[in-house]
Amino acid sequence: MPSKTAPVPVPKPEVAKPVEKVAESGASGKPVAKKSKVPETLRGFRDILPDEQAVWDKMDEVMRSLTRAYGFGRIRLPALEQTALFERGVGKDTDVVEKEMFTFTDQGGVRMTLRPEGTASIARAYIEHGMLNQPQPVKLWYVEQFFRHERPQAGRYRQFWQFGLESIGSDDPVLDAQVILMCERFCKDMGLDVTVHVNSLGTPVSRRAYVAELVKYFKANKKKLSETDQKRLVKNPLRLLDSKEPGMEELKADAPQMIDYLDDESKQHFMKVLEYLDEAEVPYALNPYLVRGLDYYTKTVFEVMLTNPTGEEGAQSALGGGGRYDGLIPLFGGREGTSAVGAALGLERILMAVRAAGKMPDSKRRAQVFFCQLGEAARRKGLKIYEKFREAGIDVAEAFSKSNLKAQLEVADKLKVPIAVILGQKEVLDGTIIIRDMESGAQEIVDVEKVVALASKRLQEQNVRREEKAAKMA
Ligand code: HAM
Repeated sequence: MPSKTAPVPVPKPEVAKPVEKVAESGASGKPVAKKSKVPETLRGFRDILPDEQAVWDKMDEVMRSLTRAYGFGRIRLPALEQTALFERGVGKDTDVVEKEMFTFTDQGGVRMTLRPEGTASIARAYIEHGMLNQPQPVKLWYVEQFFRHERPQAGRYRQFWQFGLESIGSDDPVLDAQVILMCERFCKDMGLDVTVHVNSLGTPVSRRAYVAELVKYFKANKKKLSETDQKRLVKNPLRLLDSKEPGMEELKADAPQMIDYLDDESKQHFMKVLEYLDEAEVPYALNPYLVRGLDYYTKTVFEVMLTNPTGEEGAQSALGGGGRYDGLIPLFGGREGTSAVGAALGLERILMAVRAAGKMPDSKRRAQVFFCQLGEAARRKGLKIYEKFREAGIDVAEAFSKSNLKAQLEVADKLKVPIAVILGQKEVLDGTIIIRDMESGAQEIVDVEKVVALASKRLQEQNVRREEKAAKMA
């Protein structure tokens, strides 16, 4: 078990594959050169390649549209924070802090941690920048990478992206509903059908009374608990409610439920959140076993789940989660009574679900013009003409590295570009360029200075023809 203060030990093979020397044989059979293999990516880390980009772009668009509509301002957070921030904020006995943080001591002897989540940093930033003096609530959003030393598996990485929303400075239940609604709408706009599982953990006082009852119940059934759950019973009994150990389903079914121990104020608050969700037609399900894994939550907690998961992994893992954390800002020395609510969606999990649902956006480029060049002079001039198209907002593609016209036109055909422009040696000398209609093959020679305007005119004419054709077919 790693100590909480020591750097997280990383097993050797996970750091990187060792540099491997590979001997190559020449014609004589003797080794002629030694090549070394590049160290591979670390376990749980991955590259995001261009063919996945369309879905990331779409997620960016949806985030921006939602946060603009609901008045959230973007915040960019540092990747490293003092370890104590997470120990105090997230909780020393949580899995995240106890087992999953990438922690080290720097050259100056400062203990620091690669952020495992964003809420503790947001609370720090709210206090540090005196946001208390701004009109409340202060609504912030972020899209950042986070780091947890978890066992990598589908949808679980050691570096992952979260889209987070935090609304600080008001305990109004409408804000809980707003954050939940935004999470649900984000998924919906990505083509996913989700249900939000909700529960209330009440205030720390009502929760203490509940936990005492829960401990009493599980102590009476201690023999039925696995070794892991027996440890939970001592350290963090609430976590028994989301235990997946064998036999726990039946035990949990008879366990006392939090809802019966909620104080009046928490109960009222929860009812209001549910009313707002009903009104906004956000699909939700009450889940009395939902406790979340981080210590700062009070009252509302929720998780965003696929309504009809296809794989087992989808059934188990949340696309996102959040809740109210009324005690965190006071805990960090902020003003007493500063309430807050927030959530974060895991973007890799969203991506996996979008892919499984067959809703990946088309990542093929849709260029309108293809630029062909023949010869060195044309290529040189071409760079400037190409830039003129880009400045005019016309999406233009090229194959500058190919010199043969046929090969270039083949690329244009593959991209289904409606118009190509062709610049040869002769055209460079004459100050002209050829515009080719890729559908009919018709070509015209035009003044190079007018090519952008003329090409855009031809594109418009093609559009009109296409619309007329479609209207006739209808
Ligand atoms: P969380 O439930 O720990 O909450 O993480 C939120 C989401 O991040 C998860 O539902 C999941 O989709 C994604 N996620 C977590 N760990 C991984 C991982 N190892 N690999 C891939 N995705 C992962 C929080 O972090 C809270 N700060 C949310 C919050 C904001 N509560 C209030 N405000």
